[in-house]
Amino acid sequence: MSFRTRPARAADASHIEEIESAADRLLVDRFRSSHWPAPDAASERFVTPGFLLVAESSGTIAGFVHVLELDGHAHLEQVSVLPRFARRGMGRMLVQAAMSSAAERGHTEMTLRTYADVPWNAPFYASCGFTETAPETEALRRLIEVEERLGLFEHGRRIQMTASLASGPSSASPAADGGVA
Ligand SMILES: CC(C)(COP(=O)(O)OP(=O)(O)OC[C@H]1O[C@@H](n2cnc3c(N)ncnc32)[C@H](O)[C@@H]1OP(=O)(O)O)[C@@H](O)C(=O)NCCC(=O)NCCS
Repeated sequence: MSFRTRPARAADASHIEEIESAADRLLVDRFRSSHWPAPDAASERFVTPGFLLVAESSGTIAGFVHVLELDGHAHLEQVSVLPRFARRGMGRMLVQAAMSSAAERGHTEMTLRTYADVPWNAPFYASCGFTETAPETEALRRLIEVEERLGLFEHGRRIQMTASLASGPSSASPAADGGVA
């Protein structure tokens, strides 16, 4: 199967919730957590400012990435891949497509928040060009409060990371058009 990224459609909503639930098992199992936050309603993802991409092959949706536009700033809120499609480069394809789409929308950098010591979190993002940074805006600082309320800090160190985005259409095309077999 050859997966490509495309913008999410309303009909993808139930798949997106299923993918997030299934993918979060990786973290739940690692942390042996009995109270992991439920996935966000996909309907909410469609109405918040930002964009949502899915990885699809012939009607099978294997992953998604959601980027918020917070006070005009691109913030990668979530990337999730169904466990049965994991470790094939799909997560990397989705992050690269999100970075390309954000650059096309005029953003020059992208932030995210993640676990510092989970191999498929900060080390993975570092390999995509993200480095640890401090939250500099009110909107980014508010995300820390949200994570505190959700109890995410109980499981390990959470950090903000930032990547610079290459500008111009030529930098955007390869990742957005590239696929994963
Ligand atoms: C993060 C996630 C989207 C990665 O998806 P994926 O399709 O497996 O990612 P890729 O195949 O592109 O792998 C990217 C890199 O992540 C790391 N990685 C992914 N899964 C891993 C695992 N189970 N153990 C160790 N490293 C892992 C590896 O460095 C990998 O690169 P490599 O295969 O070249 O060594 C997926 O693991 C997931 O949905 N996790 C649960 C939700 C989550 O943690 N999302 C991020 C929130 S900040």
